[in-house]
Amino acid sequence: MAAVRIEDVVGDFVSLRKQGQDFVGICPFHDDKNPSLHVSPRLGIYKCFVCDAAGNPVKFLMEHEKMSYPEAIEYLAKKYGIPLEYERTESDEERQQRSLRESLLIVNEFAEKFFMDQLRNTDEGRLMGMTYLKERGFADATIDKFRLGYSPDNWDSFTKAALEKGYKEEYLLELGLTGKAQSGKLYDIYRGRVIFPIHNDAGKVIGFGGRVLKKDGKDPRKYVNSRENTIYHKSDTLYGIYFAKNAIHKQQNVYLVEGYTDVISMHESGVENVVASSGTSLTQGQIRMITKRTQNITVLYDGDMAGIKASMRGIDMLLEQGLKIRVCLLPDGEDPDSFAKKHRDSELQDYLANESKDFLLFKADILSKDAGNDPIKRASMVNEILKSISCVKDNIERAFYIKECAKLFDLSENDLNLNLRRFVWEKTKEQSRTVQQQTQQQGQGQTGAPMPDGPQQSDVPDLIDTQKHQDIAPQTDLLYEAEKELVLLVLNYGNYLVYEDDGAQREGLRVDQYVCNEMMKEDLRFHYPLLEKIFNMYAGWASYIGNQDQIIRNFTLSDDPQVSEFVIRHIPVEPRFSEHWQKKYDIHTHTTRNNIRILQNQVQNILLTFKLRILENDAAIISKVLENKELAEEDLGLALQQLNKINQLKRIISQRLNRVVSR
Ligand code: UTP
Ligand code: MN
Repeated sequence: MAAVRIEDVVGDFVSLRKQGQDFVGICPFHDDKNPSLHVSPRLGIYKCFVCDAAGNPVKFLMEHEKMSYPEAIEYLAKKYGIPLEYERTESDEERQQRSLRESLLIVNEFAEKFFMDQLRNTDEGRLMGMTYLKERGFADATIDKFRLGYSPDNWDSFTKAALEKGYKEEYLLELGLTGKAQSGKLYDIYRGRVIFPIHNDAGKVIGFGGRVLKKDGKDPRKYVNSRENTIYHKSDTLYGIYFAKNAIHKQQNVYLVEGYTDVISMHESGVENVVASSGTSLTQGQIRMITKRTQNITVLYDGDMAGIKASMRGIDMLLEQGLKIRVCLLPDGEDPDSFAKKHRDSELQDYLANESKDFLLFKADILSKDAGNDPIKRASMVNEILKSISCVKDNIERAFYIKECAKLFDLSENDLNLNLRRFVWEKTKEQSRTVQQQTQQQGQGQTGAPMPDGPQQSDVPDLIDTQKHQDIAPQTDLLYEAEKELVLLVLNYGNYLVYEDDGAQREGLRVDQYVCNEMMKEDLRFHYPLLEKIFNMYAGWASYIGNQDQIIRNFTLSDDPQVSEFVIRHIPVEPRFSEHWQKKYDIHTHTTRNNIRILQNQVQNILLTFKLRILENDAAIISKVLENKELAEEDLGLALQQLNKINQLKRIISQRLNRVVSR
């Protein structure tokens, strides 16, 4: 795929203007007025400076054209006349699986068309299905947009039509469109129901929901839904995602509702960033579908308190994913569908804007009313809330919640903080246990989120082996930042020269080599697997790819999405020595002697900071061990010595850092 040119691919959909080495255009992923989209042929990526759209050609096609990964690859292959050889890369089993999936999708597409046609073009469909939908107030355009349909109320019209077209019985059964009676007779599962096709985020029909029309039927289920099969996984499906994608990206928020009709009614009222979990609490898979588009979610609840309390439990999971959750409470007895029907579009939109509340404060408020003045209830409630707060990753945000809770419950912030710390510790212990288990199961595989999960290892071989106690290491964003800086340093400046610092003008050393040398000499190791992986990949390439841009392009095309996303996210699109780095490190655009000196100082600065953070991490571990464990007096002495030594080193490094900085 080296022939692929990002400016061509984006240029097919967005008009681009040349600006220096790069191209700029109106960003298609948000309501853009100025050309915020930058396209860099040098790096092979696009990046918007306003919204956070960014990626390589494949990602652009997937996001903009809603293509699946294979579709995007196929598109590029066609565009550039690159032959695609599935046979060679796919195993027989994979090919079979792919062709099964494709066949099933084709059958579903046929079914969707069949049901759509029945609804619109048959007497029964118009009389039964269309009348029902019209009574519910759905407009023609909406019915078309969501591709609603109708399945006739007799034994097997659909199944017959499908078999006549040559679709295999086994596929119809697998998809749950057709059932088999004991007599062996085939029948339509969805007969006599209005059909809500369920689309994946590329717009393919992967399943169906069918709603009864008459209450007297023998089948008591209001909805029949596709059962799990090769292409339909309920836990990875959000109803409406295909129709909501662009709006979610633009609004940077998504509304979560319960049902099919809620999604559709909100669309009719002009709110398009809405998806339904279809009556269950959110799964990890569904959460990932959301987090890859936005960090903000607003849950729409109807006013029924029992339901609210039940669904609250699932929500801590969302907080842990770093999502910002808000809650919007609808008036008692209303669901989004009924509320949207009763109010003008602007009223719904105002209501959503004005009534959405921060989830944690909402929860605290409800629980505090519930507990009244019963001290035992209140204590356990405060703990429950602290547990939720401990799920919030961001320190500043956590502090904010503590402040609010202190006010709400009339408790001191210090007391709350103390208790909070306990939950945070418990959580990190739990996490490091599961990470360990995972890595044991999967060898040295990359697990976990791209963000820090907590340090892994350390290297002070004294009394207390800090490596063994990483489960109690604090979550230090500082250590992560230091490691990130180091990785970004080699990505951006790895090929620049520095001169070892003894004043004499000697032969220069590449920055990346210098960094590697220093790390070896001092046995500095990474604590965050993703950063370590990127650093190692870089080191592997740098030795034989002379061109820094080529290395970056390799990263942006990496198969590991965590890797490519990290690099795309953090690499400046403008040439290196960009404004960003200039501001940050006071480096100027030309590599004058002075700049080399500045870069040299920065390299040292970054390495020293890294080292300082490692020591801080070790010190925290040792203090914690001392707190938790009764040590024999002799050992206690040794441990304190170890701590002293670390603190001394820390001081020396801090001093050196100050010198480097102030020079
Ligand atoms: P609701 O009962 O709120 O249905 O269930 P609804 O979508 O509002 O439908 P109307 O307005 O009564 O026509 C919410 C969701 O729970 C799932 C469906 O996904 C539904 O949209 N559900 C509900 C089922 O799967 N089966 C059922 O029998 C009921
Ligand atoms: Mn409803």
